[in-house]
Amino acid sequence: MSESLIQKDDNLNQALQTLRDCFSITVPEMLVIAEKFHDDMHQSLAGQKGPLKMLPSFLDVPGGGESGEFLSVDFGGTNVRVSLVSLQGNGKITIIKRKSVPLKDPGGSYDYTSAAATGRGLFCFLAEQIANFVSPGETIFLGHTFSFPTKMYALNKAVLIGWTKEFKTRLAEGRDVNELLKEALNKHGLHGVRPVAVTNDTVATLLAAAYGDPHADIGSICGTGHNTSYLEPLPPQGQGPMIINIESGSFDGLPATFYDRQLDSSSEKPGEQMLEKRVSGRYLGELMRLVVLDLVQKGLLLQGRAGNMTGFPFNPFTLNPEHMSAMISDNTNGLIRTAAWLIEAAGVQDPPLKELGALKIIASLLSARSARLAAATYIGILQHLDPLLTNLHTIAIDGSLYEKMAGYAQSLRTALDEALTDRAGQVTVRFIKDGSGIGAAIAAAIAMQDQSGPMHLI
Ligand code: GLC
Repeated sequence: MSESLIQKDDNLNQALQTLRDCFSITVPEMLVIAEKFHDDMHQSLAGQKGPLKMLPSFLDVPGGGESGEFLSVDFGGTNVRVSLVSLQGNGKITIIKRKSVPLKDPGGSYDYTSAAATGRGLFCFLAEQIANFVSPGETIFLGHTFSFPTKMYALNKAVLIGWTKEFKTRLAEGRDVNELLKEALNKHGLHGVRPVAVTNDTVATLLAAAYGDPHADIGSICGTGHNTSYLEPLPPQGQGPMIINIESGSFDGLPATFYDRQLDSSSEKPGEQMLEKRVSGRYLGELMRLVVLDLVQKGLLLQGRAGNMTGFPFNPFTLNPEHMSAMISDNTNGLIRTAAWLIEAAGVQDPPLKELGALKIIASLLSARSARLAAATYIGILQHLDPLLTNLHTIAIDGSLYEKMAGYAQSLRTALDEALTDRAGQVTVRFIKDGSGIGAAIAAAIAMQDQSGPMHLI
């Protein structure tokens, strides 16, 4: 592995300048990434093997008139969310009831994301959560957002290609997740709950936006994971427009810093999900920890004051995007919120203001790089859909990073404005709260409408 660019005899300011140079993405660089992304999309659409999976969803965008009450299960990040959703047509949606449960008990009693759990166990856990939403004998249709790469054979048949986001649950890869859910529901006596549709969260987010917005044609998640889907007018499947799940997190060929390589080599699947490892919340905190650790080891930060050798920055995953967001938005005199966190997490005494400022700068650099890389891929998709940007487009985004990371949404918008210049006004970016859950309900509604069609259900 190549060496860090930070030199032992650098001072902190020089080191920060080196980091700025490493992590900044200029507009010409964004355009090169967009072009490469665009080429990779074409390669996969043409049926050649490439880094992008471009998975069919068997769904077009909704017409907006879909209606009824549906259950939705949103699985794929830190929590599983079950919702009862009412679709009322004309873009009107109400979430009647919703429950969110962590997949990993903070108290340590269970962890369905680890290798100690199996696919069956995981889906039984999901069925238990669903049981709280149905009365005995009730029949209700369910849409399932499953936020991992799946090979779709129909709207209700989705085979997990492989875990991402460091999930390790055994005996799930290669299985039909709708079957696993059905089995678990039956086992719990929930015979009236009919799982009729499986969607990716990016697809669900696009469905949720398109329910009331005719211009929505790109759906993306900037959260624990990162991925994007879009409405392909001419899919290779040839049955009219279809949403394609790009699985853009696996986009490769990006400039890699020393820290990106370090992070990748210690991850569950080295060499995979290279864009996701630079963009998503699952990895962003860890990347920052690696940068800080390098500075500590070079004698530039926390010298003689990192009291707790098992805490931050020595222990993996001791920093997360919420901490980063708190640092970025810390505008107090003396950065006292950052100081309080550092004292607690690293056991340091009296961190100097200069070092606290350095943490804020590093967090901002990584967050901005994440937003600019995501924006570059959106530009690649727009180049494919509408090279001259003659039409209006809405990019629908859900996810904790976009929603909660201080400055993230603004960085993303700025990146689009800078790169699209006078055509930027054609592109709206909309935050779609609960897009994944709502979209699953819409997918279930579409499945019921099209039940007789051969395309969606088997
Ligand atoms: C990961 C998954 C992808 C999902 C994304 C956001 O990249 O592979 O399917 O959409 O995370 O949750």
